[in-house]
Amino acid sequence: MTARIAVFASGRGSNLQALHAYLERAGGAEVVLVASDRASSGALAWARDRGIASSTIESGGDDATTILELLSASRVDCVALAGYLRLVPAEVVRAYRGRLLNVHPALLPAFGGPGMYGARVHRAVLASGARVSGPTVHFVDEIYDHGAIIAQWPVPVFRDDTEVTLAARVLRAEHLLFPRVAHLVASGRITLTGDGRVSGAYASRDPAAFLFAIPEDDVLAESMASALGG
Ligand code: GRF
Repeated sequence: MTARIAVFASGRGSNLQALHAYLERAGGAEVVLVASDRASSGALAWARDRGIASSTIESGGDDATTILELLSASRVDCVALAGYLRLVPAEVVRAYRGRLLNVHPALLPAFGGPGMYGARVHRAVLASGARVSGPTVHFVDEIYDHGAIIAQWPVPVFRDDTEVTLAARVLRAEHLLFPRVAHLVASGRITLTGDGRVSGAYASRDPAAFLFAIPEDDVLAESMASALGG
């Protein structure tokens, strides 16, 4: 059975595109709905161009009911947040617990929480003097950037980095990690246990599987596949 994924995105939607491209190759899951709180988001325009169902989530009303109806109308199994800036209502989190994930452009639990998005995240990393950053993919709970961490990938921070160069390096790793993890969650190979632990992530315990996000994309993708078992 092909798992049906909804992607929520507020911005340009590059992670959405990376996920879509990966699923087209990997199979077993597909993006069936793109929703955004911003009518002008690049993610919605991209979905419309491809004939993927798309919808704007208006603010102010009963967000939880709107979202749950939208997800049920498209028979969604799994929801992936890719640059979605609004807090997902608790009712939706409860309904999709263990099937709702998010990608964040830094190593949580540092550099996350309300207001920590976009360039602000990378600025905070640079200001902290941290020498390593990288994407985090985590299950979503009721608190911003707080749910159980599924996977992270190390990306070096160089002395001469700016928020632009660091963001680009982290984004490259996001585009490789997020689709792989979303695919594993959608296919039930990574799950959230009743007591809030992640089961199934990092199939390999070989530290050599973890490469810094510097090599070629295919080399990096191979090391992710080896670490995640995907
Ligand atoms: C990404 O950096 C993601 O980690 C964060 O928001 C950004 C979205 O970028 N949550 P895009 O819209 O996928 O290009």
